[in-house]
Amino acid sequence: MSIFESLVPSDEEISKQKQLLATLSRLINKEWPNSKLYLYGSCANSFGFSNSDIDLCLSIDEKEMSKVDIILKLAHILHAGNLRNIQALTRARVPIVKLMDPNTGLSCDICVNNLLAVVNTKLLRDYSQIDKRLRPLAFIVKHWAKSRCVNETYQGTLSSYAYVIMCIHYLQSQRILPCLQEMEPTYYVTVDNNICAYFDQVDKLNGFGAQCKDTLSRLLWGFFRYWAYAHNYTKDVISIRTGRSISKNMKDWTRRIGNDRHLICIEDPFETSHDLGRVVDNRSIWALREEFERAAEILHLDPNPNITLFEPY
Ligand code: GTP
Ligand code: MG
Repeated sequence: MSIFESLVPSDEEISKQKQLLATLSRLINKEWPNSKLYLYGSCANSFGFSNSDIDLCLSIDEKEMSKVDIILKLAHILHAGNLRNIQALTRARVPIVKLMDPNTGLSCDICVNNLLAVVNTKLLRDYSQIDKRLRPLAFIVKHWAKSRCVNETYQGTLSSYAYVIMCIHYLQSQRILPCLQEMEPTYYVTVDNNICAYFDQVDKLNGFGAQCKDTLSRLLWGFFRYWAYAHNYTKDVISIRTGRSISKNMKDWTRRIGNDRHLICIEDPFETSHDLGRVVDNRSIWALREEFERAAEILHLDPNPNITLFEPY
């Protein structure tokens, strides 16, 4: 818990994030009154560390303009504000504007019309409110992944988003979390032809996991044991959408297609054709599995796991 508490952003930092959101929204709304700026990613899903960058998404209906044109115009609009290092990255897979706000000291990335990310941010935040063990579990897993260099998608390891989903899956398997997408929907949106529906009245689910008394440390050990020894990498896809593992066969994820190797399969909860493990390759899958085994061993045998587990790679 003390490791978790050392990583949580302060109230002051959270109010600075809100201040930056308000400043940028005002600036952008002058030019585009019908647009809306959303916080997403770790600064809004409740799994963000202190001092992390802010992810923002501009929702805008400009049918005549391409995403790249919107990004270029956005960068132009932002030049009117007191902001630094404004850069339009138009060639990235997801085009963004980057900037730094000298007022709050915060840096942020703004993307355009990536509403699925806004919706999955809400899903993760809703899950974090059901059982108070999820948030520290995911913080510690993310901290471990960053320390051990297995949180680098461009090097074939997993995104923070994927790790949080792996934690939710594990807690669903322990009956500590329900499966919100299998319950009667109270929240319903369609984004780019993906239906996003689930039960979001999570205050009514307080105490859901109470019959399982496992402590945070036992769950952390269980999480690593699951990924080291119990998960069937050959046959299974984890799916928080269904609350269990489903078969690779069913999704036709049994072989390499293009760049997607499907060596570790993590279904996106809304974009179900999307494997969050697609970045993992023949080399990094072994690095990853060795790290899971190392972590499980440390939690089993090491007298000082709180140090060894996070030793820099
Ligand atoms: P840190 O920045 O490491 O603290 O974590 P983060 O939660 O911001 O994670 P990350 O940078 O991996 O992703 C930012 C957000 O983008 C996530 O919270 C998701 O909402 C979204 N996202 C990331 N990767 C994917 C992906 O592969 N598919 C989809 N649909 N959304 C993604
Ligand atoms: Mg982020």
